[in-house]
Amino acid sequence: MSIAFDQGVFTLTTKNTMYQFMTDRYHVLIHLWYGKNTHCDMSYLVDYPDVAFSPSVFDAGRDRTYSLDTRLQEYPVQGTGDLRIVGGKVKTPDGCSSLDLRFEGFSAEKGRAPIEGLPYARAEAECETLIIHLRDSVLDLNAKLYYVVFEELDIIARHIRFENSSDQTLILEQAASAVLDLPNEDMDLISFSGRHAQERQLIRRSLEQGTVSLDSKRGTSSHQQNPAFILAGKDTTETCGSCYGMMLAYSGSFQALVEKDPLGQIRAVMGIHPDLFEWVLEPGQSFETPEVFLSFSSRGFEQLSHNYHGLINTCIVPARFQNTPRDVVINNWEATYFDFDGDKIAAIAGEAAALGIDMLVLDDGWFGSRNNDSQALGDWFVNEEKLGGSLQQLIERIHAKGMKFGLWIEPEMISEESRLYQEHPEWALSIPARGCIRCRYQLNLDLSNPDVQEYLFERMDALLSENEIDYIKWDMNRPIAQWYSPCWPADRQKEVPHRYMLGLYALLNRITQAHPGVLFEGCSGGGGRFDAGMLFYHPQIWTSDNTDAHDRTRIQYGTSFFYPVSAMSAHVSAVPNHQTGRVTSLSTRGAVAMAGSFGYELDLSKLSGEEKREIREQVGWYKQLRPLIFQGDYYRLTGADENRSFWMFVSKDKRKAFVEGVVYEHKPTALRHRIRLKGLDPDAWYRCIGASFESPAVHQILSGEALMSGGCLLDYSWGYDKAMALVFEKVE
Ligand code: DGJ
Repeated sequence: MSIAFDQGVFTLTTKNTMYQFMTDRYHVLIHLWYGKNTHCDMSYLVDYPDVAFSPSVFDAGRDRTYSLDTRLQEYPVQGTGDLRIVGGKVKTPDGCSSLDLRFEGFSAEKGRAPIEGLPYARAEAECETLIIHLRDSVLDLNAKLYYVVFEELDIIARHIRFENSSDQTLILEQAASAVLDLPNEDMDLISFSGRHAQERQLIRRSLEQGTVSLDSKRGTSSHQQNPAFILAGKDTTETCGSCYGMMLAYSGSFQALVEKDPLGQIRAVMGIHPDLFEWVLEPGQSFETPEVFLSFSSRGFEQLSHNYHGLINTCIVPARFQNTPRDVVINNWEATYFDFDGDKIAAIAGEAAALGIDMLVLDDGWFGSRNNDSQALGDWFVNEEKLGGSLQQLIERIHAKGMKFGLWIEPEMISEESRLYQEHPEWALSIPARGCIRCRYQLNLDLSNPDVQEYLFERMDALLSENEIDYIKWDMNRPIAQWYSPCWPADRQKEVPHRYMLGLYALLNRITQAHPGVLFEGCSGGGGRFDAGMLFYHPQIWTSDNTDAHDRTRIQYGTSFFYPVSAMSAHVSAVPNHQTGRVTSLSTRGAVAMAGSFGYELDLSKLSGEEKREIREQVGWYKQLRPLIFQGDYYRLTGADENRSFWMFVSKDKRKAFVEGVVYEHKPTALRHRIRLKGLDPDAWYRCIGASFESPAVHQILSGEALMSGGCLLDYSWGYDKAMALVFEKVE
């Protein structure tokens, strides 16, 4: 049993952690513990100090020692005298913002129920659910706090449901998915922040008194802040120390606030961004939030990452794509941009097939009158003139070369220069009294409108039914800056941002269910919507528009803290790189892209015979190793700021390991670089069965302990960016 209740104390246990809270004398849910399993009732730590300027709760009367402003809680709300950041706010018809949720009862069940209309952690791994029933007896408002405990994965999924059982209209002004209170300790906050083409750069900052906001008001989870962060002890490293993760399964505007209060206690609140949210709860109506995944590791970031990789690989991505090695693709975007026709695409496919590549993905420009980025979004009809025939005819030409076919689409957008806009200007999100706010010359469609959802489903369904398409790249190339929908009354306009997300998820659900064999890749100008919400429908995401191998190692490094490599799409592109102008070797570009769903994105006809030979070798190497890449455990071997970047994959049974990386710079008068491996069986013996360079480790049989504690000497490198790879096998 992973859920226990004893004398008012609830204990949730997973393989390596314990989460505990209790109901107190005023029926408030007091947080007790999240961390290692202590096998104890941790309520002995609860202290009731008299803290000046901290108000007492109503029922405490003149008792100065009971203030919610100083208590660790499970779901603090606005209106009880807790003056820190809170999870929930409700407005009553008289204009008051006041909420007070107290414990009423609980229920527990095996497994879990889905969250209607939203992504969630599927019950693909064993789980149990604890539901805490809370009630505001003044407002006649009920709330249910859900804790889904995934014992083996060391994950607790939390969300809340509000139910208006009164006879008056209530307005939810804030409905965070979860709050995590931690005792007074010095901690660091680690975020994954950035911008377009520089996504998920790890930032570690010390938490001081005050509040830090990691958020997006862009209508997407964004390039700027990822909806996942870590709270870590000051000394926590990759393999030692305590850390907590919080990751939101939501792809729209979100907010994660972390406050260190004046007493040094830490509170983290995560959910839909309250600035772009309000929900009208008529009598009898309810509202359910997205889900937050909590995890704790006492063994550093590596273990925390493994917990989240396990969750995504087992319970988030659709079952049919879990741990399944992917095809090697060639994408025409950086090879042709909009300048292509059917013959050029068929020629690229021919070149790629000869190198062992499995699938051609036709990117932007195949529809309507789209020949540059100012036109035709929304006109999802094939431009047969440009392709020199129907799409199916082009697909048959690709098939004839032994390759599969994938197609790019950007369903959520509309160009003003399009047939769709002429017919339905009201489908574009804009504020009627003002002009449109453009971005990349395009506007957002109003996905809160069921007619828009229907149009998009009909178009995509027709494309997928009439043509043999194996893969869809679903792009989204601008943030949302104007929120008004003619479909909703004035008092529900603040619901539109979340209704957009519900519309998007409904469309994704419908189209992926109707075409279960198609692999969907998410994309938002690269990694602008790289989150667990999208991974529920799209098992992989184009990690970044930045394909420069050097920058990519940092982007993929940051991404790896919460997301598995199977979710990261990565391609080898041309040099000088189109985003940075940097020249890196083909072997470096290959090595970096192999730590993901691998492919190419360049004009193969411009390559020399030697380069083609190297690509054929890379593809062969990847195909041999991809079961290990997709099914093994991923280890970071270096940090972000070193002049080398190394990582490795180890099979679950520890029999096989693949070490890969790049030395970016070599200093004169220096010893060889040395890499300490991870994840091996210390008592087993390993033999190197493949290496891209000469090293003593390549020829000797060494123990797992030697390879992990002593490590391997790498090749003497000369110049810049030398990629290196080693494959080890256990000696039986
Ligand atoms: C942005 C994507 O990230 C690129 O890979 C490419 O698909 C373009 N959009 C096409 O417009």
